[in-house]
Amino acid sequence: MDKAKRKAIIAGNWKMNKTPKEATELLGAIKPLVADADCEVIACVPYVDLAAAVEATAGTNIKIGAENCHWAESGAFTGEISTGMLKEVGAEYVVLGHSERRQYFGETDETVNKRTKAALAAGLKPIVCVGELLWERECNITEEVIARQIKLDLWDVTEEELKNVVIAYEPVWAIGTGKTATADQAEEVCAFIRAQLAKLYNQDAADAVTIQYGGSMNDGNADELLGKVNVDGGLIGGASLVAEKFAAIVKAASK
Ligand code: PGA
Repeated sequence: MDKAKRKAIIAGNWKMNKTPKEATELLGAIKPLVADADCEVIACVPYVDLAAAVEATAGTNIKIGAENCHWAESGAFTGEISTGMLKEVGAEYVVLGHSERRQYFGETDETVNKRTKAALAAGLKPIVCVGELLWERECNITEEVIARQIKLDLWDVTEEELKNVVIAYEPVWAIGTGKTATADQAEEVCAFIRAQLAKLYNQDAADAVTIQYGGSMNDGNADELLGKVNVDGGLIGGASLVAEKFAAIVKAASK
């Protein structure tokens, strides 16, 4: 299966930005700019913005996602949000295992795996983030790190479930730093991820998975990154908060 047959997906990861009112405004600005996109367009927004975002994008080609979820259906988990809550509010996607969750909130491959399994069981599509630290790249263990994350984060995920999984390769050193991986670096690791998926499942299953690059992707470098055969889309932080920049990346992915 070649790249043209995989779903290109551009997803905004708003992180802890925008109130519900601001979310409505930003999505209102994005909507007309991406209306004829030839790729999937997603905005992953803070929990409290979800209802407003779903309402603001009703009847459009923009899909809404959350930025995390818990694995239990309900219970004594103060501050957490369940997959059922996300489904009911109209979220279709959920970012899991983002490096900021791993770095600042103690997320581990085990909890990423639990969340991934729960999201899939609830009918949400997880965007599972993997990526190496700068120190790990310098020590030449990028492939070991990625292989371990892919294996553990997708532990017990069936081949059927894999069809609903999106992988985001986000080198931690490139996130929010303005330091983008070169297109060749991004391609190298995205291809490696696909090879790992082929090992864990099979080549056909691996060829069908959308693998995004994330880390300072913007309107200036999107063309080159998305031109790579194993880079099927982008998970966009900073640039997703500016309608014109986000729309330009969507346009690059639509080619
Ligand atoms: P950035 O963030 O585009 O601001 O680097 C990407 C991400 O964290 O998903």
